[in-house]
Amino acid sequence: MSKTLYYFLSALSIILVTCHANTTTTACAPSNCGNLSIRYPFWKKYNNTTDGEFCGYPDFGLECYENKAIMTLPTDQYYVTDINYNDSSITLVDIDVVDQPCPRARHNVSLQNIPSFSLSKLDLPLSFYFNCSFQPSSVQKIECMTSGRNQSYVFTSGDEDDSAYGDDLRRQCQDHVVVIVKQDEIENGDLLDGFGGAMQKGFLLDWNRAGNCAECEQTGGNCRFNTAASKESSCICSDGRIVSKTCKKGTLVLSFFMKIVESFFGEIFAHNNTQLHRSECLDYINLFRT
Ligand SMILES: *[C@@H]1O[C@H](CO)[C@@H](O)[C@H](O)[C@H]1NC(C)=O
Ligand SMILES: *[C@@H]1O[C@H](CO)[C@@H](O)[C@H](O)[C@H]1NC(C)=O
Ligand SMILES: *[C@@H]1O[C@H](CO)[C@@H](O)[C@H](O)[C@H]1NC(C)=O
Ligand SMILES: *[C@@H]1O[C@H](CO)[C@@H](O)[C@H](O)[C@H]1NC(C)=O
Ligand SMILES: *[C@@H]1O[C@H](CO)[C@@H](O)[C@H](O)[C@H]1NC(C)=O
Ligand SMILES: *[C@@H]1O[C@H](CO)[C@@H](O)[C@H](O)[C@H]1NC(C)=O
Ligand SMILES: *[C@@H]1O[C@H](CO)[C@@H](O)[C@H](O)[C@H]1NC(C)=O
Ligand SMILES: *[C@@H]1O[C@H](CO)[C@@H](O)[C@H](O)[C@H]1NC(C)=O
Ligand SMILES: *[C@@H]1O[C@H](CO)[C@@H](O)[C@H](O)[C@H]1NC(C)=O
Repeated sequence: MSKTLYYFLSALSIILVTCHANTTTTACAPSNCGNLSIRYPFWKKYNNTTDGEFCGYPDFGLECYENKAIMTLPTDQYYVTDINYNDSSITLVDIDVVDQPCPRARHNVSLQNIPSFSLSKLDLPLSFYFNCSFQPSSVQKIECMTSGRNQSYVFTSGDEDDSAYGDDLRRQCQDHVVVIVKQDEIENGDLLDGFGGAMQKGFLLDWNRAGNCAECEQTGGNCRFNTAASKESSCICSDGRIVSKTCKKGTLVLSFFMKIVESFFGEIFAHNNTQLHRSECLDYINLFRT
């Protein structure tokens, strides 16, 4: 075998191992958390941090704690009890309300800074008014939340305004919180008896494809981001190639040329297999591609 060919082949295998094999197996591999399968576009947070490269959408990191998956939106924590990859929806349960027979929600669901998620059509918002000094006689109170002379009330959101008490409730109650539950958890039962159980069952969020990942995913790839904060993505193809946007193969000559470029940079970093180093390696490759 000629010396040049030998070097070329060994460089090629080094790049394949350092850059390709590892990224696909570690960053994109599906993993479990309890009964939940966590896979693209979700990813498991490593030691509850967002350090390092990962495969999946930036806001979709799940922490796995005592076999339960936890999602943080943006400061409030929810258990993820189901992920439906077919219809792109997840079920979340507010951590504060778990195992409480008479749950008192502390915060609204906040999706403002997370455009990837939206409420599902199957959800139903409930409006809670806590610790009210105003007590409309025609509205039933929540018995388990009586505090001295104060009472608390719950409505299907919007119904409080139909009752004409909306303004008084907003003025004369300590707190107004909108809680999201699944419609079918309330439909058959009555709100006063049913809200606790419905809150334990959680609510649904639909997720949307990240805009710049469309081409990548349609050609069989997974988007990969450098850090949770970064908007820039590259694309990991099913055959392990890392490309900037699409997994559709270019001409043979071009891809042969890219392999040589990859080999060259692969060798430079071949002796260090840390995460940081691997992503540098990939960045160099991407630099050359564009
Ligand atoms: C991939 O990286 C992990 C740790 O980051 C390491 O344990 C493993 O040996 C690497 N695999 C390959 C094929 O380099
Ligand atoms: C896993 O599923 C089984 C059966 O559905 C259930 O009994 C168990 O509690 C679940 N475990 C977790 C951690 O959710
Ligand atoms: C993760 O956390 C555990 C416990 O705090 C620690 O022992 C371990 O070194 C950490 N791993 C990494 C990669 O930071
Ligand atoms: C993970 O990090 C978040 C935010 O820093 C923190 O609120 C939460 O308690 C942490 N969870 C664990 C299990 O350490
Ligand atoms: C998703 O679709 C696949 C194939 O169509 C099916 O086998 C699977 O049961 C579906 N899973 C859910 C949770 O609907
Ligand atoms: C009502 O206010 C009291 C005193 O601030 C507090 O202890 C109690 O938890 C409140 N009740 C509700 C339902 O928010
Ligand atoms: C009743 O509610 C008011 C605010 O609406 C609050 O300041 C007060 O502490 C509450 N009292 C009790 C006994 O919960
Ligand atoms: C929750 O949202 C409602 C209306 O959307 C608002 O009036 C209320 O102040 C919010 N409550 C909290 C605790 O942020
Ligand atoms: C690998 O990289 C780490 C940090 O980037 C560095 O501390 C270490 O010395 C490097 N190892 C080799 C063999 O170059």
